[in-house]
Amino acid sequence: MAEWIDVCSEDDIDFEDVVRFDHGGSTYAVYRSPDGEVFATDGLCTHEEAHLADGLVLDDTIECPKHNGRFNYRTGAPLRSPVCVAIGTYPARMVNGRFEIQI
Ligand code: FES
Repeated sequence: MAEWIDVCSEDDIDFEDVVRFDHGGSTYAVYRSPDGEVFATDGLCTHEEAHLADGLVLDDTIECPKHNGRFNYRTGAPLRSPVCVAIGTYPARMVNGRFEIQI
């Protein structure tokens, strides 16, 4: 069953930013949108497995650092070539100043 996992303090991630989170042998990317909402996705690009946390958050998209493919981090949908396969998304929340994701 999926459980809520503590990721970091809200102070560790800026608005319109992304942070890498490794847990249980998998890599995730956790986001804060420009208005402070929190999101989580798989951490590796579906094109050639670059770390998305090394990429750039622009509004509600993450741009991969390797070939500039883009995903919507709210839905996981691929938005720009060369990516064409969606990334997984996970529930995320902020509780008492702690960022948590459900995996
Ligand atoms: Fe992400 Fe190529 S590895 S676009």
